[in-house]
Amino acid sequence: MRQFTEDNLTDEVVARLRKTKDKRFKEIMTSAVKHLHAFAREVKLTEEEWFEGIKFLTAVGQKCDGKRQEFILLSDVLGLSMMVVALNHKTAPGATEATVLGPFFAHGAREYGYGGDLREGATMKGEDVWVSGRVLSVDGKPVPNAALDIWQAKADGIYDLQTEGEFELRGRVKANAKGEYAFASYKPKFYSIPMDGPVGELVRATHNNHMRPAHMHAIVSAPGYQQVITHVFVEGDPYLDGDAVFAVKDSLVARYEKLGAAEAKKLGMPEKSLKLSFDFKLAADRADAKKARKKIAASDAVA
Ligand code: BEZ
Ligand code: FE
Repeated sequence: MRQFTEDNLTDEVVARLRKTKDKRFKEIMTSAVKHLHAFAREVKLTEEEWFEGIKFLTAVGQKCDGKRQEFILLSDVLGLSMMVVALNHKTAPGATEATVLGPFFAHGAREYGYGGDLREGATMKGEDVWVSGRVLSVDGKPVPNAALDIWQAKADGIYDLQTEGEFELRGRVKANAKGEYAFASYKPKFYSIPMDGPVGELVRATHNNHMRPAHMHAIVSAPGYQQVITHVFVEGDPYLDGDAVFAVKDSLVARYEKLGAAEAKKLGMPEKSLKLSFDFKLAADRADAKKARKKIAASDAVA
């Protein structure tokens, strides 16, 4: 077949996917082609405009390296990351809500036990905070031996991955057999998403907010439970409404309070420290989630 027009081209592109073996891949590609073509038709995309689009996507790719993930950032500011989270984490009643991963997670952070000090090696000081709580099942039972991957920006709003040097303010914190965890850190501050790349240009061109409300990131995992990728936000932060990446959930906003001199002394924290108490609640694992994780692990092993 030849002589395609705007009226029959989409059908032919979709038809050429018919031999695709993987059913799910075929479904995704078919829908992507249909929506991309519909988008071009709807806005009557000119060649110059599409070339601008290609230049932009090329720049996004070229900005990525081992530490910088501009495509995740693009997905985040377009709300696509939160859409995928919303579709896939219809939180079991009572479980901690999920939110975006963001571009600054890294494997291989140092491990800490109960009471570990994530400020170790920090190049910048902040307000000291004792973070503690429990990892529980949705019915309130302690989840033994959970791991909490924690990461947050430095006091200047920059993540360790954005600069040269060692990991900073991140760690894998092991909860104890009673589900209790605790660690020392600094109170997070609000910060700007990275604005020095093509996604920054996009945000500037659309006059959108580029700030994120203060938060620490947490991935909480435990055998037999669904992992949750989430944040804990700082109550009272000026950017809770209008987060650049749409990630705020009311249930994830927590209050930082004074630790108190006596407790600070007991914990070996500076006298004017703050405290944050936050319990994470995990839903029981699902068979399909287990299967998906195995598949990802197998493809990671191949890569
Ligand atoms: C973050 O929270 O680290 C983040 C998330 C999305 C975009 C930029 C940063
Ligand atoms: Fe962050």
